[in-house]
Amino acid sequence: MIRIAAVGDIHYDRRSSGRISKYLTGLEQHADMLLLAGDLTQIGTVEEISVLANDLAEAPVPVVTVYGNHDYQSNQQEQLTEILTRAGVNVLEGKSLTLQIGSQSVGIMGLKGFGGGFVGACGSDFGEPEMKAFIRFTKSQAELLRTGLLNLKTDYKIALTHYSPVEETLLGEKKEIYPFLGSYLLAEAIDEGGADIAFHGHAHHGLEKGLTPGGVPVRNVALPVIRHAFNIYSLNKDGLTHHPRPMATNHPTSHPTSQPTPEPAH
Ligand SMILES: [Fe+2]
Ligand SMILES: [Fe+2]
Repeated sequence: MIRIAAVGDIHYDRRSSGRISKYLTGLEQHADMLLLAGDLTQIGTVEEISVLANDLAEAPVPVVTVYGNHDYQSNQQEQLTEILTRAGVNVLEGKSLTLQIGSQSVGIMGLKGFGGGFVGACGSDFGEPEMKAFIRFTKSQAELLRTGLLNLKTDYKIALTHYSPVEETLLGEKKEIYPFLGSYLLAEAIDEGGADIAFHGHAHHGLEKGLTPGGVPVRNVALPVIRHAFNIYSLNKDGLTHHPRPMATNHPTSHPTSQPTPEPAH
């Protein structure tokens, strides 16, 4: 059995210090790793990520992250990765990581993903160069995810993205924006790559639970959805168990040291 703590869309700003770190103490007793499903920051600045890196530096379990759209806003991904890496955080943007948990190996393939929509209501690689570029980028992300998962020869395989692979976890969002929240191509990659579970964020108003067409459990762990510092899931070969009482029960954005900031939409 492996135990996965996961959350997305924590949207740190320069005043967020301490928001997550207080929940990390003793985490090793409950989870083997902490996965972050992107949108670590509000606008992807060095200042914001430094606050988060400082909080994560003392994490007692491996921390693995992908970026979200907000983390790209300031075009500083290289600096962000440097700062997070220095703090011991594993940044996966199109790469995988293998962790050894006791006698079991766990492979995590991570990338941001992208939009495009879902079967019956999706963009296609046709027409203007801008439209082709949009859908071709999603296709390239899906292909990276598929091959990355296939290349993992581990006991467990986890897909970690920011954008959603399925519609189910978007329920509650406006239908009109589904094409900007995810793509069915990511679900195809998850199924073909043989993932045991997929985590994503981005859909702040969506639902937690979904399933790919191939039957892989999908969990939207966006903070406004799970409303905990993180959720903890136990995974074994018989399936997935969601711990009914995650160790942290406060919504971290309500921490009194946080100044009010505009609630990001996604
Ligand atoms: Fe997002
Ligand atoms: Fe977000």
